[in-house]
Amino acid sequence: MTERTGVGILGIGSALPARVVTNIDLEKTLDTSDEWIRTRTGICERRIAEEDVCTSDLAAQAAMAALRDAAAGPDEVDLIILATATPDAPLPATACYVQAKLGASRAAAFDVAAGCTGFIYALSIGHQFIASGNYRRVLVIGAEILSRILDWNDRATCVLFGDGAGAVLLGPVPAGQGLLSFKLGSDGTYADVLAIPAGGTKLPTSIATAEARLHYVKMAGNEVFKFAVRVIGDVTVQALDELGLTVADLDFLVPHQANWRIIDAARKRFELPEERVVVNIDRYGNMSAASIPVALEEAVRSGRLKRGDLVSMVGFGAGLTWGAAIMRY
Ligand code: UT7
Repeated sequence: MTERTGVGILGIGSALPARVVTNIDLEKTLDTSDEWIRTRTGICERRIAEEDVCTSDLAAQAAMAALRDAAAGPDEVDLIILATATPDAPLPATACYVQAKLGASRAAAFDVAAGCTGFIYALSIGHQFIASGNYRRVLVIGAEILSRILDWNDRATCVLFGDGAGAVLLGPVPAGQGLLSFKLGSDGTYADVLAIPAGGTKLPTSIATAEARLHYVKMAGNEVFKFAVRVIGDVTVQALDELGLTVADLDFLVPHQANWRIIDAARKRFELPEERVVVNIDRYGNMSAASIPVALEEAVRSGRLKRGDLVSMVGFGAGLTWGAAIMRY
């Protein structure tokens, strides 16, 4: 990738619903146990949005926090890119609702659908717009209300996910700083291992699809698990390779938070000490496109991750898709 200018994070923010649902709460309505969920996934609790909150609300709240962090106003934003698998509605793009809620009247707005890799895909697009000189301020948001697309009778999926949003404001930074390399991938031959079968053009909504509960997330968890363990390591190495760097150069790995065992497998493969891997799945579950920016925000806010640190953000998910971004924060 040729760098005409550096592109980096000027501000970062997040938004998490106040309502906490613990594994113990789930035990009351589901044939599951705190022990199973914790040992198989690392999740202890997750946040669930109240009924009157939609994805654009959380996205706008996270975006406002990112703008405040950068001391920037909504009128400075040129473009809003929202990564989500849980849009407010099939049409229009949820990013347009976010634009209205922010009052970012100059901004263009669109959504990116790349499942749990959405934030990395969106970040790479935002990067291109600034590196090309077309735009100076791009909001990249990952936001999800996954609780609305889960089958709460399906213990194999509903215990895994949570709601939340994270956002960054991108802008020009000196060359050599900020986002340094991206590696993206997809393999559509595995599209059906993590999908919502109905509600699109292939299987339009009908009484039969609703009765068959085909509007909820279906996942072949084991298939995704094996794929995730493989790609999370490979794509990080490939993205570092482009820069002539290795895992030993990394200060932090900020992985998608789908399962603690997946993250730990990557950590062990890389021989990284625990303190160099950002993990918050215990408190939020899998927030899909929101998981990486929320984890990054927490690491920055707590003072753990500092300006100048070399960071790999790595995602994987529905598509199947995967991606890594290397950043000198
Ligand atoms: O972010 C997008 C990408 N998504 C992921 O990366 C998810 C990747 N996959 C995973 O994290 C894991 O595969 C899961 C956590 C989803 C499942 O863990 P697993 O170790 O692969 O378990 P499994 O699916 O093989 O199920 C083992 C057993 C089954 O029972 P039997 O057939 O062995 O009797 C399940 O029915 O665990 C049972 N089970 C549960 N038991 C209690 C499945 N879900 C639950 C549950 N509580 N919630």
